[in-house]
Amino acid sequence: MEHIERDVVIIGAGASGLTAATDLVKAGLSVAVLEARDRVGGRLWTNDIDGATLEIGGQWVSPDQDALKETLADLGLSTYSRYRAGQNVYINAAGERSLFEGEIFPVPARTEQEMVGLIDKLDALVAEIDPDRPWAHPLARELDEISFARWLETQTDDQEARDNIGMFIAGAMLTKPAHAFSALQALLMAASAGSFSNLVDADFILDERVVGGLQQVPLLMAERLGGDVFTNQPVRTLRWGTDGVTAISDGITVTARFAILAVPPVLISRVSYEPPLPRRQHQLHQHLSMGLVIKVHAVYDTPFWREDGLSGTAFSPYQLVHEAYDNSYHGDPRGTLVGFVADENADGVFAVPAEERRERILASLATYYGEKALTPQVYYESDWGSEEWTRGAYAASFDMGGLARYGADLRAPVGPIHFSCSDMAGKGYQHVDGAIRVGHETAAAILAAR
Ligand code: FDA
Repeated sequence: MEHIERDVVIIGAGASGLTAATDLVKAGLSVAVLEARDRVGGRLWTNDIDGATLEIGGQWVSPDQDALKETLADLGLSTYSRYRAGQNVYINAAGERSLFEGEIFPVPARTEQEMVGLIDKLDALVAEIDPDRPWAHPLARELDEISFARWLETQTDDQEARDNIGMFIAGAMLTKPAHAFSALQALLMAASAGSFSNLVDADFILDERVVGGLQQVPLLMAERLGGDVFTNQPVRTLRWGTDGVTAISDGITVTARFAILAVPPVLISRVSYEPPLPRRQHQLHQHLSMGLVIKVHAVYDTPFWREDGLSGTAFSPYQLVHEAYDNSYHGDPRGTLVGFVADENADGVFAVPAEERRERILASLATYYGEKALTPQVYYESDWGSEEWTRGAYAASFDMGGLARYGADLRAPVGPIHFSCSDMAGKGYQHVDGAIRVGHETAAAILAAR
């Protein structure tokens, strides 16, 4: 067992932990980053699958994500736009397919009116929410007691309007059914992206991608940190007291003045603490859980949908694949579609054999794009729920009532232990931008406390 001493030990080499480590080193502190996996990046993972470069985890950058954009510039990374020329596809509850442009789906006039009304109402509520302190809203408790599904029912009797608006937060963001999280949690999700309108606008929220893949961010940060990043080192035990910490992984023991747990909050309890964490932390970590989504890539000889005048963007809360996009890789002449199967739909297809799951998912893509979608060259399902060191996707959110009750304590340090992760962010919550933002803030808190 190797034993090293540093000012700060960082547990987790995702975007958040590596950002904190980078800032601390810049400020003259010594660090060791212990990473459980055999690679850095956590939920950022760009890989070659059967000859196609695919983003298995996070990939999109939106215009307001200035913390991420600053990091991209610092690392010398460039971006390119998502392909979006042409018409989008919408499929209604009756299975009828129609084409549209802009953000509002082609629905009956009354449904459209109800959807616009809901978007306006949500935008107004979101404008009152501070994403860093949603629990401070005067109605926080009330909004945290009602599920987002039930809240939508109190606003409109139009089922299709509710299904569509619900989808933007439920299937598309928190990747949990709308009855499984509160209206306050939904408002935090929208506030973290600036407004609910921004979430509805795919051209905003899914604007750009990074040349070479978004995993370049953690890879280049780790490269700069050099020998201070240790992979294959799951931290099993963290001893802590007023004079510092000792982190014990499978091969290394690090003693340090501070520790940063830069892991998804659902994994904090995987580490043994000596002495145990306080009651408050024991409780609050039990009220967070990961969503579940399958990100499916299908690569074709050509982007055939473009010839049909389609952008590749498709939505339907009634389809197995509730949203899909043109995800063709920069410089690759082939065409790639990416589709998402979330929450209970993911449960359903994980219950059947892999071959049948593939058939069902491709059949859903074919409903949007036609028969050609049935025969990709390359097909890949990202399965983050099976990953020991993530356990779901995209991120963690509170159960009903949890955000108002525990939110303020989520990032409160415990003695020398600090917490850092995208799942604890206000602005950029559940996104790489939030991971980086919280990483900067955690490093600043340690520099102020030393
Ligand atoms: P992250 O989970 O990345 O890092 C934590 C690290 O800790 C991991 O490397 C893990 O192995 C390690 N670890 C855990 N326990 C440990 C232990 N005991 N000891 C040592 N190491 C330990 N975001 C976005 O901005 N745009 C997008 O398009 C998407 N899309 C998207 C798709 C999919 C499929 C996923 C899964 C996620 C996204 N996201 C996204 C979300 C984004 O990827 C995510 O918010 C950040 O990458 C999280 O970074 P963190 O560093 O906070 O955690």
